[in-house]
Amino acid sequence: MDEFSRRRFLQAGAIAAGGLLTPSGKAMMLEPRIPPMTKAVGPNDRLRFGIVGVGMEGSGVLSNALTLSGVECVGAADLYDGRHTLAKEITGNPNLETTRDYRRLLDRKDIDCILVAVPDFWHEQVLVDACQAGKDVYCEKPMSHTVAEGFEMVKAAHSNNRVVQVGAQRVSSALCAKAHEMYDGGAIGDVTMVELTLGRNDPTGAWEYPPPPDLSPANLAWDTWLKDTPKIPFNPDRFARWRCWRAYGTGVAGDLMVHLISAMMFTLGWNEPPRSALSLGGIYRWKDGRDMPDLQPVLFDYHGIPVYIRLGLSTETLERATYMGPKGILDTTEFGIHYTPQAGVDTAPCYYDSSYPAKMRAEYVSEWHEKHDPPPGKEPLTGQTIYAGDDWDDLRPHLWTFFDAVRTRKPNVEDAVFGNHAAIACHMANQSYFRKRQVFWDAGSQTITDAPQ
Ligand SMILES: NC(=O)c1ccc[n+]([C@@H]2O[C@H](COP(=O)([O-])OP(=O)(O)OC[C@H]3O[C@@H](n4cnc5c(N)ncnc54)[C@H](O)[C@@H]3O)[C@@H](O)[C@H]2O)c1
Repeated sequence: MDEFSRRRFLQAGAIAAGGLLTPSGKAMMLEPRIPPMTKAVGPNDRLRFGIVGVGMEGSGVLSNALTLSGVECVGAADLYDGRHTLAKEITGNPNLETTRDYRRLLDRKDIDCILVAVPDFWHEQVLVDACQAGKDVYCEKPMSHTVAEGFEMVKAAHSNNRVVQVGAQRVSSALCAKAHEMYDGGAIGDVTMVELTLGRNDPTGAWEYPPPPDLSPANLAWDTWLKDTPKIPFNPDRFARWRCWRAYGTGVAGDLMVHLISAMMFTLGWNEPPRSALSLGGIYRWKDGRDMPDLQPVLFDYHGIPVYIRLGLSTETLERATYMGPKGILDTTEFGIHYTPQAGVDTAPCYYDSSYPAKMRAEYVSEWHEKHDPPPGKEPLTGQTIYAGDDWDDLRPHLWTFFDAVRTRKPNVEDAVFGNHAAIACHMANQSYFRKRQVFWDAGSQTITDAPQ
């Protein structure tokens, strides 16, 4: 069950009224790579996958994947035995191979691809191992836990010719596809500013998850779970609430903002890290021992375009992406798009005329009307366009895109390069927060720096 699904419901139908689109728009998508298969899989063949991590998200990924035709789960790995039981329950297969060691799934020649839903600090190792074992990989967002890891992951995907798709699912939604089409068609002209917002205000939203009641070192490989982080005694809260700590997670940026950033990149046709990031914030509401901020507004510079993010866990606000340009506003939310065109011209004589003496003002007003007023009966109509649709958080289309890419070797948008760029934005926001200063992206050294290069 993914974390957004609490607000998930279906809404059908599209209402469109008014709003003319003119062709313009520019795309900055990198050339997608088309990896060859290691073994032949025909378009109608059944794909066999294994899943690594069957927790809160992995269970949702698995359930959703099983609703798609032509795919089959043949193995599940998790460090907690309770989730072996869960995987068997979800697949309805009491004989499903389950293991604590994900490498056992990678050794299996009958597995085509691996779905990875382990905590952020495990993504890189599992993805790189899987690519090296010749498996295609669906990896949860944010792709990486550090900048350096992201580049290792891109390298592993490319050098092993693997299909990699990162799990920020809005990118495969019909709503984002429509928003992209509208932007690309010139609906708002060239974007000049973006505002992204998301806020929660409840313990569950703030990651205060209840650890499984039976969790113990007897049924969880605790030392393995800790990986290379500082060794600490078994701690069920760390296991369930890992997002609260920098050692394991990527904070509100990597947990939530990455969805908005990925959707924005797709909608606008961008595929790059931001030039700079400036983040404020702190731990305002959830003083539960966490070291990641619960409030983190961010201001990014994307090749000169300001992208402002209002992000936090202390007030519930709508999840929304608003794109602004000289021709109007494209406002996207979980269930719809609201497009308001703007002509960008005066509709009345300029109020500066209040500074003119009376005779001069009267002449100016009369001339203005003569020049600009439409003939009677030809007054322009203004229109707005509204689309309502399925939740952009729906996992099924995204999993379908992945399996389709595995089967056909067709390029997928949210590949390792795209996922890396979205994750870099999260790391820049976090670095700015911890360094208490604006930070910059240095493409040459592939690092986050304190000064522009
Ligand atoms: N796309 C989305 O909307 C969305 C939503 C929620 C979470 N996520 C992402 O999914 C990932 C998992 O999050 P979660 O909330 O499900 O975490 P979780 O803690 O509920 O589940 C993670 C599972 O991975 C297992 N695990 C850890 N290391 C492992 C290893 N080396 N081998 C095998 N299993 C291992 C754990 O035992 C646990 O069962 C995170 O990266 C998170 O950011 C994405």
